[in-house]
Amino acid sequence: MRLDRFLSEATELTRSQAKRALKLREVSVDDVVVRDGASQVSDTQTVRWQGEVLERIGWRYLMLHKPVGVECSLRPTHHPSVLDLIDIPQLDRLHPVGRLDVETSGLLLISDDGKWTHRVTSPNRACVKRYRATLAEPISDKDAERIARRFEAGLTLQGEDRLTRPATFERISEREVLIGVTEGRYHQVRRMMTAVECPLVQLHREAIGPLELDPDLEPGECRYLRPEEVAAF
Ligand code: URA
Repeated sequence: MRLDRFLSEATELTRSQAKRALKLREVSVDDVVVRDGASQVSDTQTVRWQGEVLERIGWRYLMLHKPVGVECSLRPTHHPSVLDLIDIPQLDRLHPVGRLDVETSGLLLISDDGKWTHRVTSPNRACVKRYRATLAEPISDKDAERIARRFEAGLTLQGEDRLTRPATFERISEREVLIGVTEGRYHQVRRMMTAVECPLVQLHREAIGPLELDPDLEPGECRYLRPEEVAAF
């Protein structure tokens, strides 16, 4: 790996600060001062900046139990950002993997690995996102079956002309349903529920593909994914 890339992954230095550190002879590789950011460093070499040994931070993958009232945007307008809930270095590198709207709670993945994010969110992969909705009105079995058929057939959402992909709708109790969608259109679940005239009062994401929200995480808490969880996508 190039030394300048290593510096940007192992420190909070911006590109220009890293350049300056190199120019000021603050960086050494195996105790030899190196000033050229393009020079290569291997995993076995010891890189120091101002005498401190640097460890490269690898890709990071987290799951957050997103509470209601925080925005997934990195530049939030009206509420705190989900990143305000996370306390790890180099926060500015992280991004939410897909989005939940302010009023929706539940499983949100966060990473700095763009390729992995693409694997999770690409519509071509048809990764099922499962939501639990609390309904404003009780729903009968018969109505639930009717809505399930419409979800399966695809709906036209207001302002769009492309049908939604087949989705699932399962009644759990009078006021609770599980919804499975493979797309990530803007406010998709709420708009699908509006389209079938089934208003909801709460929306919570329980799972993304094979990954379930960890029941030990309270709203606002996060944890790193285990290697097998990362590899599941
Ligand atoms: N659909 C919605 O309407 N909101 C979300 O946050 C996610 C899916």
